[in-house]
Amino acid sequence: MKIHGRHYRTIWVAADGWSVEVIDQTKLPFAFETKRLASAEEAAEAIKSMVVRGAPLIGATGAYGLCMALRVDASDEALERAYEMLVKTRPTAINLKWALDEMVAAVRNQPKDRRVAAAYARAAKLCDDDVATNEAIGRHGLTLIEAVAAKKGHVNVLTHCNAGWLACVDWGTALAPIYMAHDKGIPIHVWVDETRPRNQGGSLTAYELGAHGVKHAIIADNAGGHYMQHGEVDLCIVGTDRTTASGDVANKIGTYLKALAAHDNRVPFYVALPSSTIDWTIADGVNEIEIEERSGREITHVQGRTPKGEVMTVELTAPGSPARNPAFDVTPARLVTGLITERGVAAASREGLLKLFPERRS
Ligand code: MRU
Repeated sequence: MKIHGRHYRTIWVAADGWSVEVIDQTKLPFAFETKRLASAEEAAEAIKSMVVRGAPLIGATGAYGLCMALRVDASDEALERAYEMLVKTRPTAINLKWALDEMVAAVRNQPKDRRVAAAYARAAKLCDDDVATNEAIGRHGLTLIEAVAAKKGHVNVLTHCNAGWLACVDWGTALAPIYMAHDKGIPIHVWVDETRPRNQGGSLTAYELGAHGVKHAIIADNAGGHYMQHGEVDLCIVGTDRTTASGDVANKIGTYLKALAAHDNRVPFYVALPSSTIDWTIADGVNEIEIEERSGREITHVQGRTPKGEVMTVELTAPGSPARNPAFDVTPARLVTGLITERGVAAASREGLLKLFPERRS
């Protein structure tokens, strides 16, 4: 997508041909800065500190982290050490493990002197595939938006967190259909949940929608139910960090409450995802998905910009009060209208997913 008229992906190989550059998402929305990652350790730190974030992008960054580890030492032991370090950085998004497993499969049987080249080739393909996958998700999601537009003439979509191009390599998952609808001239407006505590909605989703010229308004996380009751939400479309084989959806904390409100108001609730986000090994999302618990400081403190343009962090809550901060929650499949994948829209159920991914039957 474009920033200031220039096309960017969220991760690319630097001019030196081996390190990678990423957009530093901790600086958005106030500054657009890129950051160079020059080792597996720096890639791991960028994932942990959320310089890069969003399930697909975490996977892509992990893949290049392995490439850089192999450049230093192409042995099996070094590969395993780097894998372990990277896979532990963030536990909920399954794309990271998926991407690292793909990388290991691509290099494991290569002689040592070919491993680095094989790794960089696999990481590049993984990124290109992510773009193509998201474009396909966009096309399938677009049909849902077009159906509403055909009836009403305009469409209001509510989204939570950031599942746009900043969370992926390009396009985004939940936002891809929105960009396509906008580009086709469909009058579309997006309710952007601010997404406390880290405000990925208010700072990232609003930033990228604004940069593309899509009409939107940031709302408090608690406002969505109200707009649904008043007929001002036609569709919810969110992303996911891990979806089980039975269609349960882990996504940014607060997604579950939106799905409950949507169910109560008969608002269709869709989840957009690449198949790399499906964890085929588990069925019970609530009990089997590890939920990342992040620092309480994300609740008690907030970053903002002063009128003088200085970006600073301030304390927000009663000093000394403890805080808990689960980063994700699980929306049970029964609350999900459909899963928008690169192969089409599936019912949120084992059968629904297997219809689109029959090779997983075995
Ligand atoms: O903690 P984050 O910012 O890495 O959260 C991940 C997300 O961006 C969302 O949960 C998103 O909706 C799914 S990733 C496309």
